[in-house]
Amino acid sequence: MSEVADFKPGLEGVVAVETEIAEPDREGGSLRYRGVDIEELVGRVPYEKVWGLLVDERLEPGMPDPEPYDPPHLTGNAPADAQAEIARLSGVWGLGKLHEISDEQARDDLARLSAQVMAIVARSARVADGHEDPIPDEVVAKGKTAAEKFLLRWRGEADPAHVKAIDTYWICTAEHGLNASTFTARIAASTGADAGAALSAAIGTLSGPLHGGAPAHVIPMIDEVAKMGDPERWVRDLLDRGDRIMGFGHRIYRTEDPRARLLSRTAEELGSPRVETARALEEAALAELKRRHPERELPTNVEYWAAVVLDVAHIPAPLTPAMFACARVAGWSAHILEQKRVRRLIRPSARYVGPGARSLSDVA
Ligand code: COA
Repeated sequence: MSEVADFKPGLEGVVAVETEIAEPDREGGSLRYRGVDIEELVGRVPYEKVWGLLVDERLEPGMPDPEPYDPPHLTGNAPADAQAEIARLSGVWGLGKLHEISDEQARDDLARLSAQVMAIVARSARVADGHEDPIPDEVVAKGKTAAEKFLLRWRGEADPAHVKAIDTYWICTAEHGLNASTFTARIAASTGADAGAALSAAIGTLSGPLHGGAPAHVIPMIDEVAKMGDPERWVRDLLDRGDRIMGFGHRIYRTEDPRARLLSRTAEELGSPRVETARALEEAALAELKRRHPERELPTNVEYWAAVVLDVAHIPAPLTPAMFACARVAGWSAHILEQKRVRRLIRPSARYVGPGARSLSDVA
């Protein structure tokens, strides 16, 4: 009976797990990884050390460099390539099932796989650019950080502004509690699946626009507004058509998304040519959303300013879900390990609302 009464579509507000990894401060508009505010991390430590903070609760040694691996059959569709290759690596590396291996072994498997996600995405992006030949390892090895190595592996060069854009984006989006992909990773981990299966399941959730994919829709929006020159009218027209403005609204933050704040600052610092229009559109969108939804705060979310920052590094729209995957390997890995320690299968209930008992002859 209580199950029926408690049903919430979308599970909004339902507490499904307890976690020690990240704390989004809903009212205060801040985000802390293992207690440390992300404001303190950006610009001080590179992403791979933040991976260490989230997964190991210490910066060192952090996420390792990817080991040599030549992914076969890359298509240039980076999220699909990452999902397929990470699942395949379970077989190639003979990874053990999470319920049968030690926490240390699981951590090491996740570290190897996380690093490999970055390498596969970079290689896939290179294929999408029309280059079949990989960049030589000695060129990639010249990079000092994971973000720099990522760009070297993709393009053979790494502009410092592009490195900063990607590093900041990865840190800001490394972890955020139980969103769709992380929940998926934990569900897979709760069955005792291996680390590759759990990570590839998580990557599979990123192909829709409502999670990790919104940045792909933001830049075209900003460009349309720049062309039209009237952000207020553009927003009104879109909402009148019943569409949503990508990059606004969030299940958790009701006041301000701290990641949006940090990334908007970064976009400004890096001299993004789209900042001015992005600010005008943001202002118009917030005002109109407030007018139409006075009962509900719909703040700018991380994906809006993430799009502008990723644009500084010339990240093409189709690559944005894969960029999110590169960042979130830290959060997914930490949650997979946390779930492993819980040792409890995640298995909620469904309330049956279909037809009552009937005979096969009644079926059309
Ligand atoms: N633009 C226009 N209206 C929006 C909106 C947006 N970006 N976000 C929410 N709303 C409106 C909905 O239409 C709905 O109105 P209604 O009650 O009249 O039907 C109301 O606000 C509540 O929407 P709901 O989907 O229940 O909010 P949520 O908190 O569950 O959803 C998101 C959160 C992120 C899925 C939602 O805000 C959204 O779709 N945003 C755009 C996509 C996006 O930016 N995704 C990236 C998230 S990080």
